[in-house]
Amino acid sequence: MPTDIGRVTHIRSVRLSDDGTAVVIIDQTQLPNRTEYLTLTTAEEIWTAINRLQVRGAPAIGICAGYGIYCLARRIEASDYDGFLREFRRQKDYLDSARPTAVNLSWALNRMERVVTENKEKKIPDIMELLKVECLKIHEEDMAMCRAISEYGLSLLKDGDGILTHCNAGPLATSRYGTGQGPLFLGKERGMEFRVFADETRPLLQGARLTAWELQRAGIDVTLICDNMASIVMKNGWVQACMVGCDRVAANGDTANKIGTSGVAVLAKYYGIPFYVLGPTSTIDMNCPTGDDIHIELRDPEEIKEKFYGEPVAPGDVKCYNPSFDVTDHSLITAIVTEKGICYPPYTESLEKLF
Ligand code: MRU
Repeated sequence: MPTDIGRVTHIRSVRLSDDGTAVVIIDQTQLPNRTEYLTLTTAEEIWTAINRLQVRGAPAIGICAGYGIYCLARRIEASDYDGFLREFRRQKDYLDSARPTAVNLSWALNRMERVVTENKEKKIPDIMELLKVECLKIHEEDMAMCRAISEYGLSLLKDGDGILTHCNAGPLATSRYGTGQGPLFLGKERGMEFRVFADETRPLLQGARLTAWELQRAGIDVTLICDNMASIVMKNGWVQACMVGCDRVAANGDTANKIGTSGVAVLAKYYGIPFYVLGPTSTIDMNCPTGDDIHIELRDPEEIKEKFYGEPVAPGDVKCYNPSFDVTDHSLITAIVTEKGICYPPYTESLEKLF
C-alpha cells in the first residue's frame, strides 16, 4: 500500500461546501472499504450523520455542528431578530440532541448561538457573516489545537516505543493530526518509529476500520488486536504508553471516552504503563464536577448482535447493554494532554488553571 503521511494528516473529514450551503463529510461508516463523501443540507441529514456516526469523534462532531447550524441559519425566513433567534434555537436544540456524551457538540453550538445573541443590534445578513466567520474559526482553531496537543503528546514518547490506542482519535475524528493518535503522526513526520497496537474497539470497530487505516496509510507500524488482547500485549512488555482521546473530561479529571477505554486504563495501571488522555480544552467540561455527571449514550443492540456480520451472531431476542462510552476514573490517568499544556494530578487544580 502506498503511504503518504500528509495525505492522512490533511484529510478533510468535515468541511463547508464551496458555496457555503452544505456540510461535506467523509462517510466514516464506509471506511476502510469505500471513501465516500456526503453533502448534508437539511437538519435531518446533519442530525442523522452525527447520530449514525457517519461523522464522529468529539472535535469532528463539534466542527460539523458549527457548519451545520450556519447552513441551517442561512435558510431561516424571519421578518425580525426575535423570529430569527427563535428558529435558530429550535434548529440548534435539534442538532444538539443527536448525541449526548461528547461535549464538543453543545460547545460548538453554544459558541454559534452566542454570535447571534451578542449581536442582536445588527442586521440578519451581518449576523450571518459573523456566523460564517465563527464556524470557520472553530475549525481552524481545532487544527491548531490538534497540532499543539500532538506536540505535547510527542514529548511523552521515545523513538521505538510501543503505544496502545483505543477507538479512533486521529485526523478523521478531528481536523489535523488528531488528538489521541496525533503524536504518532507528528513523530512519524519527524522520522520517529513507533509500534502501535490498535484495539479494534467493539462494537463499531473504529480502531479496526479507521485507526488501522489511517496509521497504515501514514506508514506507521500498526498491529490490530481485539479489545480482549490488550492485556497480553501489555504483559509481553510491548506497550510503553497508552494514548486515547476523550469525549468529555469532568472537572476532577474523570474522562468519558469510547466504551472499553476504562478497561485499558485499569490494565495499564496493573502493568505500570502510563495512561494518557489527549484532547482539546473544548472537551473539558468544568460544569461537570465528576464522571458520575456525564450522560452516557446507549445505542441500538443491533450494533452488538448483527451489524458487522453476514448473519446475526446472537439470539435475536437476547437482552443487550450497549453503552457507547465509559468513564475512566481520574486516579487511573497519568496525564491529560491539552493544547495549553500537560495536566497532572490533582486534576481539580491543574484543569482549573487552564481556564
Ligand atoms: O462514538 P465515537 O466513535 O464518536 O467515539 C469517539 C471516541 O470515543 C473518541 O476517542 C473521542 O471522540 C476522541 S476523538 C478525537
